[in-house]
Amino acid sequence: MNRPDRPFDLIVRNTSEVLCVTGEATEPAEQALRPIRRGVVGVRGDRVAFVGEEDGVPEGAVTPETEIIDARGGFVGPGFVDCHTHLVFAGDRSSEFELRNQGATYLDIAKAGGGIMNTVKATRGASEDELIRHALPRLKTLLSSGVTCVEAKSGYGLNVVDELKMLKAIQRAGSRQSITVVPTLLCAHAIPEEHKADRARYVDICIQEIIPKVVEGKLARFCDVFAEEGAFTLEEARRILEAGKAGGLIPRVHAEQLTASGAARLAAEVGASSADHLEHLSPEDAQVLAKAGVVGVLLPTATLFVRARPFANARRLRDAGVTVALATNLNPGSAMSENVALTLGLACLENGLTAAEAYFAFTAGGAKALRLEGHGRIVVGGPADLVIFRCSSYRHLPYHLGINHAGKVIRGGKVEWKAESETLCG
Ligand code: NIG
Repeated sequence: MNRPDRPFDLIVRNTSEVLCVTGEATEPAEQALRPIRRGVVGVRGDRVAFVGEEDGVPEGAVTPETEIIDARGGFVGPGFVDCHTHLVFAGDRSSEFELRNQGATYLDIAKAGGGIMNTVKATRGASEDELIRHALPRLKTLLSSGVTCVEAKSGYGLNVVDELKMLKAIQRAGSRQSITVVPTLLCAHAIPEEHKADRARYVDICIQEIIPKVVEGKLARFCDVFAEEGAFTLEEARRILEAGKAGGLIPRVHAEQLTASGAARLAAEVGASSADHLEHLSPEDAQVLAKAGVVGVLLPTATLFVRARPFANARRLRDAGVTVALATNLNPGSAMSENVALTLGLACLENGLTAAEAYFAFTAGGAKALRLEGHGRIVVGGPADLVIFRCSSYRHLPYHLGINHAGKVIRGGKVEWKAESETLCG
């Protein structure tokens, strides 16, 4: 047996199984999860050093200095990758929640000057430090649910100063919580009030002022647009995405959320990493996304929360060969929820995924949307971002609806969160 150059700093053992999630999205998902029964994970520093069966642990790898984590028969998987959130914002929109419950639609509220614009007013009025203060508890809730990597969008500033303020707040919040935060510029979230009469002027500001400053300051990795009735037209969205791309920002698109807008095709044409929402995607456009290798990000909590129908058809996407990802879409308007378990449950109940497909979508699927190939999987040399669950199978996650099963969350090789109680269910 090989002796390791250095013992493990940490080992997770006594698991029901370790899900490595190293298969492909096109394989049957149960197989793609690559389970190792009673598997063991060894960690050195912030990297995975070993994953396999107990018998395969190299002699001398475990010493009295190695921290031993007893999974107590729970299963272990990679940290979740929440690839679509708007977690930095000020204010709240609970009154809109009530209006929708009385029959108003998300679009009605937006047309009356509420919706995103309400959050823009509150966010413009908040300092960078205040935004960070609001965001930190949300990040903590996500971490405690097993999320170790999260994407966060701007989009409530809608001018140079406030979009930059949001992106800086996203970066700084990320450095103050043990979670990888990936920033996205979403200056094309809504046309701000002051430019309603001359929308072309705002598109020019996005292209000539906001994007260059974001690129110069290295403040974002992606450039996203909300291409939808009441937001940006396909042509405006295309110009903004192309300008971002020229500066090295990878395109993403909020597509086909409230109406069938043709935005999924735009995502394919500009080489976007993902098209997100997709409630109104046509069967033909599912093929278009597959051909272009665009990840389909589904956000079922938002469909539920805005009381819109239908839910996105995940079966159709998988059958067409699209990699499906799932995310919380945490935001004050369409999905005020950090709940990973609820998202997984809805994905099975309403989007038509199996438990294995949903699990894959919230781990490796999310990582693919963010083009972070090492995340969302457990591989030797990859980040030691692991979740030890208080149940023996991933099948309990969507089934025990909305309940957090994470028992311990390890990020970068360190235990960053522990549940108060070690037991939850079988
Ligand atoms: O992804 N649809 C556009 N953006 C968000 C909602 C933002 C808001 O209402 O504040 C979404 O659902």
